[in-house]
Amino acid sequence: MYTSIDQSIEILDRSRHSDYKAELAKDVCRGLERFPKELFPKYFYDERGSKLFEQITELPEYYQTRTERALLESIAPELAGEYSFTEMIEFGSGSSAKTRLLLDNMTSVGLLERYVPIDVSRDFLVATAEQLDVHYPIHVTPVVGDFLDGLEHIERSGPALVIFLGGTIGNLYRNDAASFLSKIAEGMGEEDALLMGVDLVKDPYLLHLAYNDSQGITAKFNKNVLHVLNRELGGCFDPDSFCHYAFYNPDDTRIEMRLVSGINQSIPINHLDIEVMFEEGESILTEISRKFTKASAERLLKDAGLRMTKWWSDSEKLFGLLLARKR
Ligand code: AVJ
Repeated sequence: MYTSIDQSIEILDRSRHSDYKAELAKDVCRGLERFPKELFPKYFYDERGSKLFEQITELPEYYQTRTERALLESIAPELAGEYSFTEMIEFGSGSSAKTRLLLDNMTSVGLLERYVPIDVSRDFLVATAEQLDVHYPIHVTPVVGDFLDGLEHIERSGPALVIFLGGTIGNLYRNDAASFLSKIAEGMGEEDALLMGVDLVKDPYLLHLAYNDSQGITAKFNKNVLHVLNRELGGCFDPDSFCHYAFYNPDDTRIEMRLVSGINQSIPINHLDIEVMFEEGESILTEISRKFTKASAERLLKDAGLRMTKWWSDSEKLFGLLLARKR
C-alpha cells in the first residue's frame, strides 16, 4: 500500500482505491439531482483551487488564517513542553504552513518522531512533504485521501497529537461533524489528543466580508469547482453564467456559499451522459462553513465521545483553538 517516491519519503494512497473520478462522478450525479443542487467542498481543491485558497488566506478580509496562526504561535511552546507526543497527524494539511510553527517547537523539544499530513491534493501534499522531510529531523509519511476516512490505515506507534485546523470542521453538517469526530475518537487512545481550530460566531458583517472579498478571489475559488467538473467529467459549464453568492445564515450560524445561475440553461456533462437544467436564479450550494461558540464546540465534542481539556481564543474572539481527549 505504501509506495516510495524517493529515498526518504513513503506515501500512502488511500484515496478510495485511487478512483477519484468514479467518486466524483457519483457525488456530482447525486448532488445535482437534488434540490437545492449541492456539491461537496472537497472538489474545490485541485491545484488551481488549492492555490486560490492560499490566496484567500492572505486576504485582509479573511481573518481566520492569520488569527489561528498567531494563536498557534502562542500555544506551541505549551503544547511542546507539557505534552509528550511522538507523532503528529494532520487532517487537511494543505501547505502545512501553520503546522510548521508546531513542528519547530515540537522538534526542538526532541520527542516528535513522525508527521503524517493527510490531504486530497496529491501534488501539493508531496511537494510539501518533501520540503518538511528535508527541513525537520523527523519522518514525514504523507497520506493522499479524504480526511473523512479518519485514522484508517494509519500505522500508530506512540502518543499522537491529531490536528484539524483552519475551521474545516465547519464544512460538515452537524451530524456529519459528530460522526467524523466519533470516528477519530474511536481511533484515539488515552494519551492521544485532538487539536482543532473553529471559527467563531461574531458580527455577521465581518463574516460576510470574509466570504465576499473585494478582490473577488473567493468568487474565483467558488467557480473553480465548475472548472473541475468541466475538466474531469466533460462538463460544459460556463463559469461566467454563474454568480458567486455567500451569506451568513444566523439561524444555523453558518456561511452558505452558492453559485447562482444568471440564466435558464441546460448544461451537458458528457462523461456522465446527463444534462443539468438550471432555471434563472437557481443555485448550487457549494459550501457551508459553520461558526461556533466555546459552548457549541464543547457540545459537539461531547456528542462525539470527546472532552475539551483546553480552550484558547484571541482577544477579539475571532477564532478558537481547542484541545480534546477521549472521554
Ligand atoms: C478551509 C474550509 C476553513 O470555510 O472558511 C474560504 C474555505 N471557503 N473561503 C472556510 C473557504 C471560502 C474555508 N475552510
